[in-house]
Amino acid sequence: MEAVKISEHVYWVGAIDWNIRDFHGYSTKRGTTYNAYLVMGEKPTLIDTVKKEFYGEMMERIQSVIDPKKIKIIISNHSEMDHSGALPQAVNYIQPEEVYVSDMGFKDITAQFHCDLKLKTVKTGDRIDVGGDTISFVEARMLHWPDSMFSYLEKENVLFTNDVFGMHYATSKLFDDENEERLWLYEAEKYYANIVLPYSDIVLRFLGQVQKMGLSPRMIAPDHGFIWRKDPSKIISLYAKWASQAPKNKAIVVYDTMWGSTEKMANYITDGLRAGGTEVKQLSMHSNHRSDVATELLDSSALLIGSPVLNSQIFPAMADVLCYLKGLRKKGLVGAAFGSYGWNGSPVDELTKTLESMNVEVVAPAVKSLFVPDEKVKQACRDLGLAVSKKLAEKVK
Ligand code: FEO
Repeated sequence: MEAVKISEHVYWVGAIDWNIRDFHGYSTKRGTTYNAYLVMGEKPTLIDTVKKEFYGEMMERIQSVIDPKKIKIIISNHSEMDHSGALPQAVNYIQPEEVYVSDMGFKDITAQFHCDLKLKTVKTGDRIDVGGDTISFVEARMLHWPDSMFSYLEKENVLFTNDVFGMHYATSKLFDDENEERLWLYEAEKYYANIVLPYSDIVLRFLGQVQKMGLSPRMIAPDHGFIWRKDPSKIISLYAKWASQAPKNKAIVVYDTMWGSTEKMANYITDGLRAGGTEVKQLSMHSNHRSDVATELLDSSALLIGSPVLNSQIFPAMADVLCYLKGLRKKGLVGAAFGSYGWNGSPVDELTKTLESMNVEVVAPAVKSLFVPDEKVKQACRDLGLAVSKKLAEKVK
């Protein structure tokens, strides 16, 4: 397996995971890549490694450029296992002179591997000589882990950003200009929605800080997906847009159903939303993955949730998606709950409390249906859709 030259002294030596379909609960329908980079200065430097199962692939790619034992420096920008899993094996084999991490990276890597990798810590503004060029560091705390860090190869003007600006997208085409936007845009948005969204305020602050530092990389090299060489500003603008979470007249209706009653309610709510002029997506948890629901939520400003009652609880698939969405902390949502029941309707009311715990502005009490919705319930559902629509229209004015 061969390395790919991406700029004068930089090679991609990562791995492509074509067939991964579940990335800690996130559905990766297009697989992913674990990007590692080799900087061929007088002190050859490896930036990030790969998931441990891909250690051999990374080493083979390095070997196509240089004997790995000649690597002098390893930098770990992020300690999550998909980038650090191969680090202990790589350090043991290569025996580099230096292994650089952030302060939090030191803590995380030590707690993950329980061995002495002779780590040295660096912080924002620190610079190291890699022989013929310099790498400077910018800590990017909570983008998306406390340890996250960027490395900047100064003369070549390449910014290595670990997870940030990446996407789960397996491709043999390493650059933005080689990949079709209609294929990658959803994956980039999905990555933001599922990984970065909770840290949107930090994204906005960080983008401002990078601008103040005068960093204008000609190439952005993340640890997943492809490398931005034609237009790095494109993904920066998308991040600024997604992080702003500007109100939009769009709603999602997320539900599960047992014998079709809650689905009927969802249909009438959707009809009300449409009648009120709101763009709407109706998402059954029978047919949609939680991470795709999260993606739809990214550019929505209303969340309606519906569940039948099973053994005096909400449906398990709804508990799953609500737990997941709560963690993503989407801002500025309005919403409401609905659901059907047989003899105990209180779990449907609990859904309203769940929305409140997610800081969703609840527009109306939950609409409940005793078994199959009658005409009165259908009208109440339609009215709920209209009420949410009216609220949304006020927000986007
Ligand atoms: Fe791709 Fe946070 O690891």
